[in-house]
Amino acid sequence: MSILTELCRQMASCQGCGLAQQRTRVVPGEGAEDAAILFIGEAPGFNEDQQGRPFVGAAGAFLDELLLSIGLHRHEVYIANVVKCRPPGNRDPLPGEIAACRPWLDRQIEMIQPKVIVTLGRHSLARYLPDEAIGKVHGKPRQMGDVLCFPMYHPAAALHQASLRGVIEQDMQRLAHVLKDMESVGPPGQESAGGSQLALF
Ligand code: URA
Repeated sequence: MSILTELCRQMASCQGCGLAQQRTRVVPGEGAEDAAILFIGEAPGFNEDQQGRPFVGAAGAFLDELLLSIGLHRHEVYIANVVKCRPPGNRDPLPGEIAACRPWLDRQIEMIQPKVIVTLGRHSLARYLPDEAIGKVHGKPRQMGDVLCFPMYHPAAALHQASLRGVIEQDMQRLAHVLKDMESVGPPGQESAGGSQLALF
């Protein structure tokens, strides 16, 4: 068993906050254990809680579509959430719940060591850029130490506000360009022949 699988097994019995009482299943996350790209959503909804898998409802269908639009399948990336258990009625996770769950996500990131973290929505954005508004920073990559943070609107936002669909689709195309640039440039600070620098903020 890999250490990431073992971590997910431990999460399944977490009693770290009040969400443990009402959940059906913990939703640890899934995908490639050595993924270069980690997508971080907010919290499981009804379908995720039933199945124990992230992004399997309507927002997940849109996320799959977005991934496919840049030639990726979900098994090639890793998908996790800030909070691993469903908040009742799909309410926003509370600060205490996010704090209680943080060590799980921290350990996942340590184990996966992604090169790019795509934050989906404001709760995962807040982990990296707590003072920024999603409306201002979406689609703009920012290097944070070893990892490139790429903020995006949450896919569910397009389901509630149709005008955001195009914005999210465009941001996904920007992400594809960023990934291509990273391939030609290499890790930050190491230019390869013929590579162009990443266009950060
Ligand atoms: N929304 C999220 O943020 N995460 C999920 O897993 C599903 C919907």
